[in-house]
Amino acid sequence: MPFNKTFGVDLGTSAVKIYAKDQDTVITEKNMIAIRSRNQILAVGNEAYSIFEKNPSNVSVISPMSNGRIADINHTEMILNALLDKAGAGSVFGNDIYLAVPTDLSEIEQRAYYTIGNSSRKNKVYMVDKTIADAVAMGVPVNKTRGSMIVNIGSQSTEISIIERGKVILSKIVEIGGSQLNQAIINEVRKNFNLHIGSRTARRLKFSLAYLKYDPQEARKAAGLDSLTGLPGEAVVPSEMIYETILTPVKQICEEIRFFLERTPPQIRCNIEQEGICLAGGTARIPDIDWFLSKETGQKVCLSGFYELCTIYGLKEIIRDRALKKWVW
Ligand SMILES: Nc1ncnc2c1ncn2[C@@H]1O[C@H](COP(=O)(O)OP(=O)(O)OP(=O)(O)O)[C@@H](O)[C@H]1O
Ligand SMILES: [Mg+2]
Repeated sequence: MPFNKTFGVDLGTSAVKIYAKDQDTVITEKNMIAIRSRNQILAVGNEAYSIFEKNPSNVSVISPMSNGRIADINHTEMILNALLDKAGAGSVFGNDIYLAVPTDLSEIEQRAYYTIGNSSRKNKVYMVDKTIADAVAMGVPVNKTRGSMIVNIGSQSTEISIIERGKVILSKIVEIGGSQLNQAIINEVRKNFNLHIGSRTARRLKFSLAYLKYDPQEARKAAGLDSLTGLPGEAVVPSEMIYETILTPVKQICEEIRFFLERTPPQIRCNIEQEGICLAGGTARIPDIDWFLSKETGQKVCLSGFYELCTIYGLKEIIRDRALKKWVW
């Protein structure tokens, strides 16, 4: 029996997903840390999120990643170590860590991922392109494909990539995702009702009211602070307002996809036109976003049923299947 354990890690801006090979389980925790008086760790992951926007002034709740990239190595490392322990790590012999990373990484960013995965200096760190992991989870024949487009709409980034015969030939990170939709909702509610709502409330409104095809004609109460008086207030937000708010950023993503396709060599584009665009990520949970993307880009869209867990399920397959180890570097 091997002494070291194996884990797959998808470090997302909003959530860290960890696959533990031994238990064959996936855990999802918020990518957040709560720190008191600058150096005392109070909570990590979902526990830290539970005090976010409610924290006293001597406690800061930090999200160490921004727009799909590491912004703060130390805090990312602390979070990952705590969450790996929670997932069953802690072997004195070190662990094998498979990290899903964006494709267009600079050398400095690659080193940052390596440092984070290898903080104990005993771990073996392997990297896998997020796009390849997504493609594996969606059943794309990575080695043989003559052109597949993978789009992952996450919380602060949308990664658009094209794979051809086992290689990611084009990739781009667009800084639009679920958080930008939340921020747009916060701005719109303030403009319409003079009410300042927090990002949790905006997220809740998005979850229950966002649509792109059929208007549920519903409304939800939102509580916040009156922008003029500073006193607590409430407003009833209709679904139509959420639709109008999210339309611009979603259209921007479509525009980027169209622009990307225009730059793609014709023979590869021809294959994408036949196969369709593969869509994943948590923000792909907005109802009928696949229909909307298809309408705006003129391409078929195949939506992954794994949504935000697509990358980690791809990593799981890569970890468990020897034949897929060639995608690890
Ligand atoms: N039902 C839903 N409707 C709309 N958005 C949703 C829904 N469920 C989750 N989301 C959004 O999905 C996003 C999280 O997705 P995901 O876990 O793929 O992001 P991430 O990997 O953490 O971020 P990134 O890939 O940008 O680094 C959040 O912004 C969340 O609000
Ligand atoms: Mg992600």
